[in-house]
Amino acid sequence: MYGMVNRSIERMVVADHGEDFWERVKRDAGVDVEVFISHEGYSDQLTYALLGALSEIEGTPLSEVLVRFGIHWAVVTAQEGYPDLMAAGGRDLREFLINLPEFHSRVSMVLPHLQPPEFACSDVAERSLRLHYRSGRAGLAPFVLGLVKGLGQIYETAVEVEPVASKAAGADHDEFLVRW
Ligand code: HEM
Repeated sequence: MYGMVNRSIERMVVADHGEDFWERVKRDAGVDVEVFISHEGYSDQLTYALLGALSEIEGTPLSEVLVRFGIHWAVVTAQEGYPDLMAAGGRDLREFLINLPEFHSRVSMVLPHLQPPEFACSDVAERSLRLHYRSGRAGLAPFVLGLVKGLGQIYETAVEVEPVASKAAGADHDEFLVRW
């Protein structure tokens, strides 16, 4: 993954717990990188190791860490780093979600080596829809849940995200019922 993902984890951890705690997360994860470069590629394993170590040291389940990171990614990293891309995503939460399947193709213009997730929407109604998420990467469904919550914060819209199918539990892909 692009280094900006690890930088974003670093920023969240330092904000929550301070610099020393972040150094401990890296040490426990076996990560020997002083500074992550945003536009450089790093192994997915490194990112998983950082999140796993954070979960261990905090004593927080990994799924909760991923939800928190999803909110942080949307509200802080995406909003501050790419305000124009985010604004082009839609005028409200509903529109953003409907446009989400195309979102990362625009991101790919800035980040050509992106290996993006795949999204699709179905059952689109005025105040709800089903969001389908597919990825070659495992275990990131709680990250998606956090991202959608973060989008709710961005659009100041109360949103509920309910996982209704899980790849980890044998379904074809992850699916969420999103209501606002
Ligand atoms: C401008 C804002 C955004 C940028 C720059 C961005 C960029 C990225 C990057 C760099 C990755 C790591 C993958 C890689 O490096 O190959 C990623 C992954 C991901 N992004 Fe985005 N993203 C943005 C917004 C969003 C939003 C709003 C959502 C969903 C609501 C989202 C969903 C995901 C998911 C689920 C992954 C995990 C990868 C996977 O599932 O395989 N992203 N994105």
